[in-house]
Amino acid sequence: MDGAGPIAGYQAITVTPYSPTIGAEIGNVDLTKPLSDNELSEIRRAFTDHLVLFFRGQELDFEDHARFGEYFGTLGQHVGVKTNSQTTNDPRVRKFHADGQTPRVSGNVWHTDQSCAPMPPMASILYLHTIPPNGGGDTGFASMYAAYDALSDNMKAYLEGLTALHDGTLQFGEGTPKAVHPIVVKHPESGRKLLYVNEAFTSHINEVSREESKAILEFLYEHQKRPEWSIRFRWQPHSIAFWDNRCAHHRAISDYLPNVRSGFRVQVEGTEAPVAP
Ligand code: OGA
Ligand code: MN
Repeated sequence: MDGAGPIAGYQAITVTPYSPTIGAEIGNVDLTKPLSDNELSEIRRAFTDHLVLFFRGQELDFEDHARFGEYFGTLGQHVGVKTNSQTTNDPRVRKFHADGQTPRVSGNVWHTDQSCAPMPPMASILYLHTIPPNGGGDTGFASMYAAYDALSDNMKAYLEGLTALHDGTLQFGEGTPKAVHPIVVKHPESGRKLLYVNEAFTSHINEVSREESKAILEFLYEHQKRPEWSIRFRWQPHSIAFWDNRCAHHRAISDYLPNVRSGFRVQVEGTEAPVAP
C-alpha cells in the first residue's frame, strides 16, 4: 500500500487507512488464533470507522474463518439457492471460485450483499488463497455515508421518507426474497445516515411514478460509484476483506478470466432490518 502508515489511537493492532472515506489495512494480528479482548474491541472500532477491513498473509482454514466471523454474529447462508450449491464440508463456509469455465462471475456489479432479504447480512468475510497470476480481480468498495453526505440538502430532503423494493429475482432467479427498505438509512453503530439503494437489487422507488423512479435511481447509481468515495482493493494470496454490508457497496471486477481466482467466504447475519433515521 502507498502513502502514510498506521494511524494513532490503537494499541493492540495497527490500522492503516486505504483512503479518507473507506478502507483500512489491519496489521499485527493473527487470525489463525483466537483474538484477545483488546484486539477484538479495536477491530470492532476500526470496522465502524473504516467500513471495510483488509488483512494480509492469513492462511485460514475453515475453523479459523468461521471463528473470526462468529465474533461478530451468527454465520448465515446466502439467499440464492444456486449460490449455496458452492458448499464446503463446513456448512458455515461457502466456496468462492471463478475461472475460464465460470458462466457468470459473482458480484460483477456494484451492490450490497442480498439487500433483497428482509434482514440483509451484516457483513461478509471473503478470503482468497489463489489470485490470478497476471493481475486483475481487484474488488471495488464505496462508502454510502460519503455518497449520502455529498448530496444537496434538497436531494436529501426529497429522498428521506421514500422506500424502494429490493428484488432478489433480478440476480438469483425465482425463489429468492424481495424486501422494501428505506432509501435513507441510519447505521445502528455509527448513527450516521447513508444511501441504501443499489443497482443489483433495487427495482424501483415505491412512492413515485416508474419514470421518476428510473431517473432518480440512475442518478443515484452513478453518484454512488464516483471515485471520490470508492477504492480498489488489490488482493494477494491469503488476503481477507471484511466489509460492513450495511454501509459499503462493493463489486467484483472480472478482468482476469480464464485465470483462477479462488477462496472461501462466510457471511454474518444481520440483527435488524435497515431503519430510516
Ligand atoms: C462477494 C463479492 C467480490 C469479489 O463475495 O459478495 O461480491 O471481488 N465479492 O469477489
Ligand atoms: Mn457481494
